[in-house]
Amino acid sequence: MSDKKRIGILTSGGDCPGLNPVIRAVVKRGVSQLGWEVIGIRDSYNGLLSSPYRIQELDRDAVRGILTRGGTILGTTNHGSPFAFPMRQAGGEIVYVDRSTEVVEACRILELAGLIMIGGDGSMKIAHQFMEMGLRFVGVPKTIDNDIASTDYTFGFNTAVEVATEAIDRLQSTAESHDRVMVCELMGRDAGWIALHAGIAGGADVILLPEIPYDLNRVCDKLRRRKAAGRLSSIVVVAEGATEAEGAGQNILEGGDGKSRMPRLGGAGAYVARAIQERTGIETRTTVLGHLQRGGTPSAYDRLLATRYGFGAAEFVREERWGEMVALKGTELIGVKIVDVVGKLKTVSPGSDGASGPRRGHRVRRLAPCRPAFRATRSSRSSGKAG
Ligand code: F6P
Repeated sequence: MSDKKRIGILTSGGDCPGLNPVIRAVVKRGVSQLGWEVIGIRDSYNGLLSSPYRIQELDRDAVRGILTRGGTILGTTNHGSPFAFPMRQAGGEIVYVDRSTEVVEACRILELAGLIMIGGDGSMKIAHQFMEMGLRFVGVPKTIDNDIASTDYTFGFNTAVEVATEAIDRLQSTAESHDRVMVCELMGRDAGWIALHAGIAGGADVILLPEIPYDLNRVCDKLRRRKAAGRLSSIVVVAEGATEAEGAGQNILEGGDGKSRMPRLGGAGAYVARAIQERTGIETRTTVLGHLQRGGTPSAYDRLLATRYGFGAAEFVREERWGEMVALKGTELIGVKIVDVVGKLKTVSPGSDGASGPRRGHRVRRLAPCRPAFRATRSSRSSGKAG
């Protein structure tokens, strides 16, 4: 094995536009300028849990042309932490196995000086658990949801807002043609940043966020007032994690396993749309933007931010600033301790101007309970039956 510095890099959690530009920047700085070997690990930590390991050396050629590509050339997963790894038994039953020591052993065998981990809140937590076992990490914050504590922006968010805003713009014209209410469901499990920013940018009439439980009477009153004033169409933006104040919690399509897989949210838009049509009599349609917000080429802003984060992460490795995550404060790239990020969520503060998180500290949100999606009526909802 050569005596060059060897660094591992992996992408973890749901994908997001900008992952490839981060990888590219790490390789440009680390390999081309600092003479390191950069080892890409496939599918988050899974590449180290396979035999043989699924890894690839990333040289300049490997990252050529990926600046504009969405997704991640390394692959990723948002379920299956090595600390509770789902393994199917012969009888089909799933058991959760702690395989963390295999990852630590793999890093030792591969002689990795440390890992650059590009991930969200859950991935930072896993990195922190590995740090307690002696592995060295530099973190890079990613998520379209922009909900990671201690950074003003994560890359991917800007692209998602652009996509969502364009969708709202398109819904405006068809809403006007048919005098309809158009409900647009956007991603945002616990934080409503995408819905808030795209909703404001798209001129939505109602924006429902996970942070502020909504009252359907107030929503319908507003739409009736608009109609009475001659504004016959309206746009309602709903974050997938929004909850009704008197309701049963978030709308879920598929339950999680309580260990490594989160519940799949969905149905918040349809739920709100159905109530609007039933209560106001205004014809209402729903659009769910879903993974269109996560796919595709990163915006110019995200390409730049991701490139800055990638170069920054390589610099942190060079300076041996292990245990830190690159972050953006204002326009400045800074380092924050991964341990200070774990378990916190940057949510929209009802008291803020909506452009940033809370002024002091970080609001840590208690999660609302989940409810199955597509409840048919108010009465079936209160009886707990799915429609
Ligand atoms: O964390 C980003 C996110 O896009 C959430 O907003 C959303 O709830 C989730 O990922 C969807 O994940 P999946 O790809 O598993 O459906």
